[in-house]
Amino acid sequence: MPTSVHHIDPPQFGPWALVTGASSGIGREFARQLAADGLNLVLAARRRPVLDDLGRDLAARHGIEYRCVPVDLATPGFLPAVAEATDDLDIGLVVSNAGDMVLGEFLAGSHDALLDEMRVNAQAHLSLTHHFGRRLVHRGRGGILLVSSMAGLQPVPYVANYAASKAYVLALGAAVHQELAAKGVHLTVLAPGATDTPMLTRFGADQTPMRRMTMSPQACAADGLAALAANRPVRISGRTNRTAIAVLPRATRTRVFGAMNRSMAAGATTQRA
Ligand SMILES: NC(=O)c1ccc[n+]([C@@H]2O[C@H](COP(=O)([O-])OP(=O)(O)OC[C@H]3O[C@@H](n4cnc5c(N)ncnc54)[C@H](OP(=O)(O)O)[C@@H]3O)[C@@H](O)[C@H]2O)c1
Repeated sequence: MPTSVHHIDPPQFGPWALVTGASSGIGREFARQLAADGLNLVLAARRRPVLDDLGRDLAARHGIEYRCVPVDLATPGFLPAVAEATDDLDIGLVVSNAGDMVLGEFLAGSHDALLDEMRVNAQAHLSLTHHFGRRLVHRGRGGILLVSSMAGLQPVPYVANYAASKAYVLALGAAVHQELAAKGVHLTVLAPGATDTPMLTRFGADQTPMRRMTMSPQACAADGLAALAANRPVRISGRTNRTAIAVLPRATRTRVFGAMNRSMAAGATTQRA
């Protein structure tokens, strides 16, 4: 498995990169790989102590600079705080990765939890792409990597709002990709499949047949960064996942993924409500 990529060119995408959801899973791995490529990092998520530890570790290993921005991306007015924390930095890359999932029957989830899920999974990408997209176009180079999900490629029962919010990111990103391409700015939407992170284990997916299809966060992040460097509009992570999407009709995927989520919801030890 690749644990580092060397496709991210600091003159094009540096000197600073913002990574949201850097405190865990795929986001943490994006941060690690970008630091290995020599980019300075703005690390954003809610858990400041975890970001501080990561930043210290990456600075010691790779000699980079870092800044931590504690932020709840489900708060509607989060953008000014992130903008203020980064206004003095030459940000060349934004990895909008943070996300959360409410598992279970749509009507069983609380309205507030579903709204929070939509804000972090969809609205945060909109706001970050709009704000930093303008800055990147102004400087005439750089990139934006939006993390969606394979769940966004078809409706998925028992994670209905999650799948819908991820579909929004795919549609937004693939369209804005074309607008930015002419302006020297790359934009790629990464659609991971099952990836071995705390999000997956939180819902017990590691105890289901899904574990056989699971990728490492290292491979997932490397796939996303390589796709961004090549300026692909959309990248499904992993060859197995790409094949599954190519051969299974959309309605079949809805049925199969829905059934998997239904059994996961039935056995989940943790379910937001
Ligand atoms: N793992 C998978 O199988 C899989 C599959 C498809 C897509 N994805 C997507 O990949 C991305 C990363 O997920 P992961 O698997 O790495 O999950 P994870 O390990 O649970 O990490 C999620 C990250 O998002 C941050 N986050 C969550 N809610 C936030 C909020 N309201 N404000 C700010 N930060 C928030 C978390 O940080 P704090 O808790 O510190 O705030 C954490 O750093 C997500 O967008 C997810 O939907 C994952």
